[in-house]
Amino acid sequence: MTAILLDGKAIGRQIREVTSKRVTALRARTGVTPALAVILVGQNPASRLYVNNKIKACAEVGIRSSLHEFPADVDSGAVVERIKQLNADREVHGILVQLPLPAHHDIHAVLRTIAVEKDVDGFHLYNVGGLVLGETVFPPCTPYGVMKLLDFAGIDVTGKNVTIVGASNIVGKPMALMMLAREATVAICHVRTRDLAQYTILADILIVAAGVPNLIIPQMVRSGAVVIDVGINRLPDRRLVGDIDFEGVRKKAAYITPVPGGVGPMTVTMLLENTVTAAERQTSGLHAPVDPEALAQAE
Ligand code: GUN
Repeated sequence: MTAILLDGKAIGRQIREVTSKRVTALRARTGVTPALAVILVGQNPASRLYVNNKIKACAEVGIRSSLHEFPADVDSGAVVERIKQLNADREVHGILVQLPLPAHHDIHAVLRTIAVEKDVDGFHLYNVGGLVLGETVFPPCTPYGVMKLLDFAGIDVTGKNVTIVGASNIVGKPMALMMLAREATVAICHVRTRDLAQYTILADILIVAAGVPNLIIPQMVRSGAVVIDVGINRLPDRRLVGDIDFEGVRKKAAYITPVPGGVGPMTVTMLLENTVTAAERQTSGLHAPVDPEALAQAE
């Protein structure tokens, strides 16, 4: 068997075409152009690359963006103050704080400052809590992108065994909640998990976000599984790889995501979608928590 590639670049492009049309329609209807404010603290080269990609992608679909940079040694108060200004700015519809923040910051306090209706990354306490109850205002972009990839490929998750490797707030935990909401059976593994393989081998859908190159080898994967690689690792020889032994596992899986070109472009795509949704809601006077019926009536 050779796995079918889940091409996040191509699927992302299709979704972005729709997003771009929504931007044009909103502007024609209200005169408002969706706008995203991105906050970057410090000089982490990977973060800078991600932020540049997000800003470029915004421009491609007609979203305005602004970059708010701070030196690594800035105190949380200054970042919080800027977020408050952006919350009050009616011309800004989405706010994103690129993570990780330097260690001296209270990340939860910073993220909690973002107005819920502008929290397009979905990391605010309210948004995360909403995921538990099935009332998210904005689904976090990476797990949302994974769900879209599966939906586009026609892969139903209901009743499937889903194993998630990695329990981060950004990927693993929200991914598990989204899968649970779709009635999958979910196992979450992490650095303390004993005998990882006994969980991964059970998976109909295996999602790996651990940040460890070659963590998943073919013997750990069930034949015919769907394998989603969220990892992005730069090897000493400068090659970019995920957490999965791609060449080995692709011979065993039914579907697999490449790195790069799999989940990464989907994360950015869902950020664009959330930003346009934020602008649509704000221009129709709707704020979180959003009543879907009111939103439908406003459209
Ligand atoms: N760092 C790694 N992934 C993400 C993400 O999706 N959003 C933000 N803000 N920071 C990240």
